[in-house]
Amino acid sequence: MRIVLGVSGGIAAYKAALLLRLMTEEGHEVHVVPTNSALNFVGKATWEALSGRPVYNDTFEAVEEVNHVLQGRLADLVLLAPATANSLAKAAHGLADDLIGNILLTATVPVVMAPAMHTEMWENAATQANVATLRARGIHIIEPATGRLTGSDTGKGRFPEPEDIWSQTKDLLDRGAAKRHLEGKSVVVSAGGTREALDPVRYLGNRSSGKQGVALALAAARAGADVTLIAGAMDIAAPQDPNISVVAIESTRDLLDAVLHHAEGKDGLIMAAAVADFRPAAVTDEKMKKQDGNTAPTIVLEQTEDVLRTTVEQRAAGQQLPRVIVGFAAETGDADTTPLEYGRAKLQRKGCEILVVNEVGVGKVFGQDDNDATIIFADGSDDVPIQGSKDRVAVEIINQLADAFA
Ligand code: CTP
Repeated sequence: MRIVLGVSGGIAAYKAALLLRLMTEEGHEVHVVPTNSALNFVGKATWEALSGRPVYNDTFEAVEEVNHVLQGRLADLVLLAPATANSLAKAAHGLADDLIGNILLTATVPVVMAPAMHTEMWENAATQANVATLRARGIHIIEPATGRLTGSDTGKGRFPEPEDIWSQTKDLLDRGAAKRHLEGKSVVVSAGGTREALDPVRYLGNRSSGKQGVALALAAARAGADVTLIAGAMDIAAPQDPNISVVAIESTRDLLDAVLHHAEGKDGLIMAAAVADFRPAAVTDEKMKKQDGNTAPTIVLEQTEDVLRTTVEQRAAGQQLPRVIVGFAAETGDADTTPLEYGRAKLQRKGCEILVVNEVGVGKVFGQDDNDATIIFADGSDDVPIQGSKDRVAVEIINQLADAFA
């Protein structure tokens, strides 16, 4: 593999030398691109000796090779480690005042960043906003470790051990983030929760954060698909990615219309949205007023449309809808039936090809960063259990989708 290792100016630059060692020992071709401040910590000679290649850090070196554009295109991966608060800020704003800044702007390959800084800097609202922006653009940010920092202080912000960074990076690549196996395919992903209006100000909603749906849209885009993200209410920003177009919806009815419209002629549909099962039967045009005394209105509910099932039915009726439809199931178990058994019954009921079964409960799945699920298949293929971050789960689901197309 050809890797660009960007090194920014923090004390952890010395650990990046060990990281470089791990990569070259496995036979990878590593091009080190330090920032000027990184050279205050570890000099060019060290990078050249350990990588066995010339090291450039200025946009105006090796100009005849158009190095600033070439590196990000030729590489299989760009890894920025350590990424200082300053380099994260520059990347989030697209600044290109040095070679690594240019490479990050031109890279069409997976980009991984391993931040390292003092806890205060990591927790600062500016840094957190920059990290969120970069993640929304599909950059994989490795969480910093907690422990001893440069001085005698400890906290979050420590550069993870080189072995951890390398194993997380490889994991990401192995799990398909770098495989463009959805090239030429179009995929619709629904994400977030629906809101059902009660009156002009109030609604019934749910706790969906949209994180899993956004992770799926990004993973599909990285795999080469042309993605439409139909987004309900989410806690996170919709991704800004040239291969993802975002359609905002509010209610279940909006979602149904959007899915039937945008999924027409597409190859895949992933229904990660948390859809309301009931909505107020009547919506008042004026805000419901409080009455004198202790009376409160009774809200009568009616069932919403089942978007997934309707899409499957419309497809059976001849509409050009995706060949592979993936549903999600949020299940709790009980004394007689496991969540997975409920999931299998739901797969049959819904008629889709693939179902991702999540066990839910207080503090499980909704709004959390990690997921623990089982992918089950209508054609009887073996179940695929998946655990880990929602990013990792997303990549696995995308791999299964690609297999189903094949
Ligand atoms: N779904 C849908 N339309 C609805 C409800 C759910 O399209 N009105 C989709 C969800 O996006 C998800 C799948 O159906 O992909 C299963 O959602 P879930 O809430 O687990 O199931 P329900 O259909 O609501 O069934 P139940 O409440 O009986 O478990």
